[in-house]
Amino acid sequence: MTPRSNPGPRRVLVLSAATASMVIAAGIAAVGTAEAASTLGASAAQTGRYFGAAIAAGRLGDSTYTRILTTEFNSVTPENEMKWDATEPSQGNFTYGNGDRILNQGNAMGAKVRGHALLWHAQQPGWAQGMSGTALRNAAINHVTQVATHYRGKIYAWDVVNEAFADGGGGGRRDSNLQRTGNDWIEAAFRAARAADPAAKLCYNDYNTDGVNAKSTGIYNMVRDFKSRGVPIDCVGFQSHLGTGIDSTYQANLQRFADLGVDVQITELDVQQGGNQANIYSTVTKACLAVTRCTGITVWGIRDTDSWRSDNPLLFDGSGNKKAAYTSVLNALNAGGTMPPTTSPPSSGGCTASVSLNAWTGGYVATVRVTAGSTAVNGWTVAVSLPSGSAVTNAWSATNAGTTGTVNFRNVDYNGQLAAGGTTEFGFQGTGPGPSAAPVCRVG
Ligand code: XIL
Repeated sequence: MTPRSNPGPRRVLVLSAATASMVIAAGIAAVGTAEAASTLGASAAQTGRYFGAAIAAGRLGDSTYTRILTTEFNSVTPENEMKWDATEPSQGNFTYGNGDRILNQGNAMGAKVRGHALLWHAQQPGWAQGMSGTALRNAAINHVTQVATHYRGKIYAWDVVNEAFADGGGGGRRDSNLQRTGNDWIEAAFRAARAADPAAKLCYNDYNTDGVNAKSTGIYNMVRDFKSRGVPIDCVGFQSHLGTGIDSTYQANLQRFADLGVDVQITELDVQQGGNQANIYSTVTKACLAVTRCTGITVWGIRDTDSWRSDNPLLFDGSGNKKAAYTSVLNALNAGGTMPPTTSPPSSGGCTASVSLNAWTGGYVATVRVTAGSTAVNGWTVAVSLPSGSAVTNAWSATNAGTTGTVNFRNVDYNGQLAAGGTTEFGFQGTGPGPSAAPVCRVG
């Protein structure tokens, strides 16, 4: 079942013997009494997402900048500090001072840190710009290995390869010194990154991919090919440097990538001021919330004066005041949306469980899928850990023991027996925040 976007807080629920599908298909939701979150990060976290900003090491001494950063955001991306020219200024000489400053800032905030970017045709050090062929390929893969190893276990997601596709109608690769080392340079980079840091999600990141178009389709075909051949790729970043309009297929484009089995992230959002800035920000935010596997949004800077663009494209003005675009994003986040699924690892070969949430301020509906392992299951129990303030109000297709803390859901008569690999679903509704940890399934 695909959870649908929740229509918003304070809807009245009329739930008799309703099934999950009825509730979700009808788009009705429970009464929400909690206050709307008042910061971007806290509001995004209500649906299990992050809201991040690209930050610059050189601005961390600016008190207005760091006040907004630490108040509003729960993810950071180094704007320039982890790029090739910054991290390997001469071949084999690695410098991590500013990259580490960004990492430490993120850690101090309890924020996710997105790594950006291991390989890119731009911002290469001069020594690499002048290289080609096998020497460049080897230097590039060594760069990926060294940098991903330095940050091993500390990066939420790496932009392993940035902007490798061409603009215009062809849907093909961009010409670059890296591309000229052979079409397989991208997969070689992803394999090297996986070997160096198995915990990081590995992303391909690009721009002008803000709808279904030739360029995004070229990338889509690459990701589909990677998935079919087992090349390690976990996510696709959509930079989303936007002008005065937004493609009507923006959300559908995110969804088609998610349907390939990768996460999607909005990685460098900024929108030209004038025209519909607040509306476009809101549209992007709602699109991410509507796509279950859209795990978060990053804006490319904090104040307009911090931006790489000169058209005031960010959420805070030069004095640090919230703009209308800020309010539109916060309101969209507080209206809720689908929740990225979390899946438990197989436990004792018996069964696994994953949960999808349709969450809003003050409540949620959870749909849990139970899947048998390689042998048939006769009776299952799924333990779901609820955060503080969360309570189950009712369940269907399972019975719950308790309503708060760790709640055990046991099968009912008709869905306890699963064939090897078979699945069934149950659901529950609750008040407060929904579960954010993976449920644990056990047999019996
Ligand atoms: C930009 C930075 O914001 C600037 O400070 C720098 O001078 C150039 O790069 N796509 C990307 C980002 O992936 O790394 C770019 O960042 C913006 C476009």
